[in-house]
Amino acid sequence: MTAPTPAPDPMALRRALGQFPTGVCIVTTRVEDELLGMTMSSFNALSLDPPLVLFSIDRRARGLPQWERAGSYAIHALAETQRALSNRFARPGPKWEGLDHAPGHGGAPLLHGAAAVFECDAHAQHDGGDHVLFIARIHRFTAHPERRPLVFAQGRYAGLDRPHEAPPLWPLDIHY
Ligand SMILES: Cc1cc2nc3c(=O)[nH]c(=O)nc-3n(C[C@H](O)[C@H](O)[C@H](O)COP(=O)(O)O)c2cc1C
Repeated sequence: MTAPTPAPDPMALRRALGQFPTGVCIVTTRVEDELLGMTMSSFNALSLDPPLVLFSIDRRARGLPQWERAGSYAIHALAETQRALSNRFARPGPKWEGLDHAPGHGGAPLLHGAAAVFECDAHAQHDGGDHVLFIARIHRFTAHPERRPLVFAQGRYAGLDRPHEAPPLWPLDIHY
């Protein structure tokens, strides 16, 4: 019998995972009369056909029971200028007071100023260890390529370094 793999040091693992830059999203939903919103870096593209994306929520999140019941979500890929909004939705305390928003698909609140917004239906939920993995199906989306996306790497916010100096790589001549 082989010995079980020892659990990695959580801080060292976090630091290593922080070497992989992500964007920053605020995911919102409405469950009955309650509006929920959470800052997330776990958002990722999953499938083009059907159009699926994913994000994961910590099992310790106070809002998790409501997220598990939600039928739709609005996923906002934040712009570089939205760091304060990201912090607001990452902390306990009032999130919606004084904030302009409008009802989107399924009632999920839409925020202004994002680099892109994906309005989604709930598609599936899976066990993800100390997180719950949510898979969402895109119903409609908007994009603002003129807004630079907010980046999160090495445990801090960053911006893209002069993205307009490099020629666009899309479409890639390799399989992606
Ligand atoms: C940049 C950044 C990314 C985050 N990504 C996630 C994430 O993907 N999943 C998650 O559960 N919490 C994530 N968090 C933490 C949550 O935003 C925060 O714990 C949330 O406000 C907790 O929600 P609650 O009020 O329901 O407990 C992130 C925080 C920051 C600042």
